[in-house]
Amino acid sequence: MLNFQVLEVILKRIPKVIIAGDNNAPNAIVLVSKIAYSKSNLINSLSHLHNPNSQAINLQTIDDAHRAGNKEIKITVEAPASIANLGPGFDVLAMAIDKFKDIVELAVKPGSGKISIKVEGIKVPEGKGNVAYGVIEEAIEKYQLRNMDFNTRIIKGVPPASGLGSSGATAAATAYAISVAAGLNLSTRELVRLSGAGEAVVAGMPHYDNVSASILGGIVLIDPADLNTYRIQPRIKFWVAVVSPNIPKGPKKTFIARAVLPRKVDLPLIIKQSAGLAKLVYALHVGDLETFGTAISADYIVEPHRAKLIPKYWNLKRIALENGALGFNIAGAGPSVFSIHRSESEAKEVGELMLNYLKRSGIDASLYVTKVSEHGVRIIRC
Ligand code: HSE
Repeated sequence: MLNFQVLEVILKRIPKVIIAGDNNAPNAIVLVSKIAYSKSNLINSLSHLHNPNSQAINLQTIDDAHRAGNKEIKITVEAPASIANLGPGFDVLAMAIDKFKDIVELAVKPGSGKISIKVEGIKVPEGKGNVAYGVIEEAIEKYQLRNMDFNTRIIKGVPPASGLGSSGATAAATAYAISVAAGLNLSTRELVRLSGAGEAVVAGMPHYDNVSASILGGIVLIDPADLNTYRIQPRIKFWVAVVSPNIPKGPKKTFIARAVLPRKVDLPLIIKQSAGLAKLVYALHVGDLETFGTAISADYIVEPHRAKLIPKYWNLKRIALENGALGFNIAGAGPSVFSIHRSESEAKEVGELMLNYLKRSGIDASLYVTKVSEHGVRIIRC
């Protein structure tokens, strides 16, 4: 087992590289460039892997770990929930939120490509029906990992089928955990692509907006054509009220919400939608909260079709905007809706108004007040 004395010796010999590890977690031996080697620093360092500005980090491969006597590598990763689309940005824009997260504990050991998925917390399918299964299966295929077994324990915290990127959070955490535990050292782009395989399990086809926000944190623009991501650093702070109607939602909820969308869109609508999306990104860039809100509220292509799937949608929108919300739209594929606010108290107040209106209409619902999560996927234990 490596200890810090050994690490220091190695450090002296290889000045640009630090080998970081921890006596309590011998499986977590990794090569980290130019970073201090306490366990918390190690975790922080790895957690910044997704940041394009961070230093390159070379992870030790599982084979190296086996040579060091480790039969199994276990890693625990968390990823935040997210709200996709943000009005005009269907499939290209999403923001991570800090209210909910999924935790994925992945143990990788030499084997024959067996996958096991157990879930705690909120009930979702285990085994093949879980998005993590799709991610692991894809990783085995793409990165030739058939000589390993994957034991996964998911602590499910993001409510599923709500429009809060539940499958995206599991997929992102699983992809990142595999990348680290199997020594793949995947780029953000590869992580996004791999996570998309998990989304396909529930949506029928991959979409990459939720997973991009869960991986990178903050507000992210993803180009589905090349899977490049652009993390937008907003100059504004705002609060988000999420109202989630407790209506029956089958496992095919996202699939259905995508199936109701038009296959073709008229040019005038594309022009209006493009202007809205550009305005939204501009507003974030210059820190113009009002324009951001206006842009979020206008979706000419998706909202008109999906509104029909959400009880009292247009009334909720009217209540929010008449009572001070800066913007309102459907959260991801719904049925949750979200509004944005200058303050936490206003988000609570307006959220309560929407909630009470739904309750008076005989619809049970939940209110969550949250803000943008600056963190994306990160290692919490190794
Ligand atoms: N962009 C996706 C959709 C997100 O709206 O279908 C699904 O969570």
